[in-house]
Amino acid sequence: MAEYILYHTTDGVGTLTLNRPKVLNAINYDLLRELDSLLDEIAADDSLRVLLLTGSGKAFAAGADIAQQAVMDPAEAEDWGKFGSGIFRKLELLPIPTIAVVNGYALGGGCEMAMACDLILAGEKAKFGQPETGLGITPGFSGTQRLLRRVGVSKAKELIYTGRMIDAQEAIQLGLADHVYPDDQLQEEALAMAKKIAGNAPAAVRYAKCAINEGAQTDIDAAIAIENKWFAKCFATEDQKEGMQAFLEKRKAEFHNR
Ligand code: CAA
Repeated sequence: MAEYILYHTTDGVGTLTLNRPKVLNAINYDLLRELDSLLDEIAADDSLRVLLLTGSGKAFAAGADIAQQAVMDPAEAEDWGKFGSGIFRKLELLPIPTIAVVNGYALGGGCEMAMACDLILAGEKAKFGQPETGLGITPGFSGTQRLLRRVGVSKAKELIYTGRMIDAQEAIQLGLADHVYPDDQLQEEALAMAKKIAGNAPAAVRYAKCAINEGAQTDIDAAIAIENKWFAKCFATEDQKEGMQAFLEKRKAEFHNR
């Protein structure tokens, strides 16, 4: 039974809610262990199409738990960084699309968790940042690497060297967040996007994620070959036949994840 993360599913959409509101959903070992086992459960659930990840209260997550890290020695910090980064990589590689629904502070490990999701939707009050240098550390859950991939090397350096917090609008301008919505419409808009994705052929969506993730790590010729592999695999699915037949018959496709 999870203590720090709430989880529910509706119509193929799973929602994880970080739930340590008294400490702004600060990420400690127990929360990460819960996330790890929930991700295993989600990866094995064939009925799921999309995962939403959000926070309770006024934060998405205000970072890794500073009280827990304050007493770590270098070896413990190395283990902690590997543990968190490993779980965020598992989140990134989840077979279904993932959407960070950033309802407030997404700082340090919170920003790193959001960046491990495919998409980032922000409420108007959301604040992003990697403030770790002000605590005497670097980002430790892959933030140096994912931020540079989202906003470019020099912007990542500026944000990490200064530790400056940015608002949702600036996050959009930099390409860190994908959409901003009024705070009271954020969850509804996120669900609407999740449902839109869930209405498309499940394998095609999953294969597109694989093609983009794999291709993002390699040169253009290898990347095009990767796309070709996933494109061809779609044609082994019943949903490809159904999607195209439905178009030709001018009706709505009914996908069965086969
Ligand atoms: N770890 C532990 N506790 C935290 C926390 C964190 N990351 N962030 C907030 N809290 C706690 C506060 O200590 C406070 O607890 P008490 O009520 O017991 O004092 C409670 O949450 C509420 O926080 P504030 O009173 O500070 O709330 P605020 O509205 O005045 O400020 C804030 C909000 C600007 C987000 C501020 O809380 C803050 O700066 N938090 C820390 C942000 C940060 O530095 N994050 C990086 C952490 S290191 C990291 O993430 C490393 C890594 O990459 C692995």
